[in-house]
Amino acid sequence: MSVYLDHAATSDPKPEAVLRAVTAAMTEYNANPGRGGHPRAVAAARQVLATRTALAKLIGAPDAMSVVFAFNCTDALNLAIKGSLRVGDHVVATRLEHNSVLRPLCGLAARGRIRLTLVDPRPDGFVDPEDVAAAMNGSTALVVCTHASNVTGAIQPVAAIGQLAKSRGVRFLIDGAQALGGMPVDVGALGCDLYAFPGHKSLLGPQGTGGLYIRPGITLGTLREGGTGSASDSLIQPMERPERYEAGTVNLPGIAGLGAGVEYVAPRLSQIMMRERELTSALMEGLSAIPGIVVYSPAEEAARAGIVAFNLGDLPSAQAADALARKGYAVRGSLHCAPGAHRFLGTLTRGAVRASVGPSTTFEEIEGFMDAVRQLTH
Ligand code: ALA
Repeated sequence: MSVYLDHAATSDPKPEAVLRAVTAAMTEYNANPGRGGHPRAVAAARQVLATRTALAKLIGAPDAMSVVFAFNCTDALNLAIKGSLRVGDHVVATRLEHNSVLRPLCGLAARGRIRLTLVDPRPDGFVDPEDVAAAMNGSTALVVCTHASNVTGAIQPVAAIGQLAKSRGVRFLIDGAQALGGMPVDVGALGCDLYAFPGHKSLLGPQGTGGLYIRPGITLGTLREGGTGSASDSLIQPMERPERYEAGTVNLPGIAGLGAGVEYVAPRLSQIMMRERELTSALMEGLSAIPGIVVYSPAEEAARAGIVAFNLGDLPSAQAADALARKGYAVRGSLHCAPGAHRFLGTLTRGAVRASVGPSTTFEEIEGFMDAVRQLTH
């Protein structure tokens, strides 16, 4: 078994409670939530509501119906982006975004449906809210920013950007893929209208889960239409949330597991965040002391998620990650689906090695990892 340092891709291991919740949903109350009145269907619907309620509480959403389930963060981002925009709209996003934001936006721009401005980060890897303000114009309908870069872990000034967007009456979407579950998130304090998140990363749920916070008062266009178990005599997709955005049978086992993940993370959030900061500091210090290593993550502990990106001299990152895998360490190399971030770092060709920590990571594992990296540099 390798030491797992790839939590930014998906967390491992999942808490026992998550595994039990998935099994229970498939054995004890396996039925279609919202599609029947028999006891098992009611139990299934109750579980879906319980997870929705736990998520709403975690992010400070005003009510559970503000959270809609998606298949992953990419799915939630697609809903937020395509459900918000009209032909002729202008969008401001940052060059640090993941392809889950860039591809939908660049696709719309390439088809001439929207105009897009991408804001560069400052040399320190953080976006300046003033640069976002300067990029906005009278047609700007949406601002999108990642909460934390999935390449460097740099936590972006999303609350300041949210304030700016609000003062201009522009909708603000945050990509919380590397943040929710690893740091406090309060959608009101962040001033966001939409917050997309995966279930399988820091929330410790199963893959195939995710969600989108939609501020009350906002109605998005739909990506999918179909059965909702409600207003079934109507041929038009209902306006009510969450049904509007959840056509078809939801992922009950995944949502049940996600609920258990949230219940595990919520009471331990500060502890998890502090420990991950210390672990990444140990990584940063260890790596910075090795000659020939270039580290790309922010030096300030509180300014980064549980991610440290680096390269070993001129070694292509994919080769370095393979060599580390042979030594028993699972990290991600190459490009991390965020080409703008790599271009900014100067790593578009060779990528970067990314080590990312989770609640189960130990300091001994970090020390062992440092030894493995040192051996590669000799
Ligand atoms: N988006 C995930 C990552 O950054 C998969 O690795």
